[in-house]
Amino acid sequence: MANTNTVATLLAMKQRGEKISQVTCYDYSTARLIRETGINTILVGDSLGNTMQGYDTTLPVTMEEMITYGRSVVRGCPDAFIIMDMPFMSYQISPAQALENAGRLIKETGANAVKLEGGAAVTEQIRAIVDAGIPVCAHLGMTPQSVNVFGGFKVQGKGEANARRILEDAFAVQEAGAFMAVLECVPPKLAALITQKVSMITIGIGAGAGCDGQVLVLQDMLGITASAPKFVRRFGEIGAAMTEALRAYDAEVKSGSFPAEAESYVKSDCPDDVLRELETQYS
Ligand code: KIV
Repeated sequence: MANTNTVATLLAMKQRGEKISQVTCYDYSTARLIRETGINTILVGDSLGNTMQGYDTTLPVTMEEMITYGRSVVRGCPDAFIIMDMPFMSYQISPAQALENAGRLIKETGANAVKLEGGAAVTEQIRAIVDAGIPVCAHLGMTPQSVNVFGGFKVQGKGEANARRILEDAFAVQEAGAFMAVLECVPPKLAALITQKVSMITIGIGAGAGCDGQVLVLQDMLGITASAPKFVRRFGEIGAAMTEALRAYDAEVKSGSFPAEAESYVKSDCPDDVLRELETQYS
């Protein structure tokens, strides 16, 4: 099914009170599967540093890597609304740096929007990108690129001062032009309050059911990652299914039961007279 979501249709969904679904994706084959669903938006998250590259954090991910993965997703789901994460240090330095890299992500992948982490501190960056015609999704609360400041992946927004800061950050990024904000590991009632107060779309992850939509990391929700945060619901056990299939393959290769005759190019096999000739030549 073709995905026909745009900024306008997504904002209209918020206005109608319809929930918006988002999932991360990093490759062509999975993007093709997502294309067959009604999922509204795909996030090419820098979580690919964890899920695809095996790092502990998202910090090492580069622009070049984001572009390579992003292109693959766009090729697999060309008509989806695809959001590209801006990797660590690709936007923090200046609005000009942010604009240049946002432009590359859109131009070199064919995606539709970019996402960056932070609130009031990055409003100049958001403004510069939006002014150039690129939709921006902000990311508030537990922002994984700041893991070294937080001292781990912890809930943010507990206590009045922190709750107020996240709400003010939400207003700040909206005012700067963001059409959407991911709220990660924000207390559910605070996330619901932000959702009510802002006109931009809120997408929750570990932030309760009161957001306009939800996002999950694909490998977590499909049961591919060994362990996932406690807010994740596993909608499948694809990891176990893959391991089982791989074990079966290994066993059948080793026993000689794979491949069977029907699983080879029997019809176009080498003619017997050629084989005899080769046999004689190399005896
Ligand atoms: O990189 C990512 O996948 C994200 C989501 C967790 C929201 O930012």
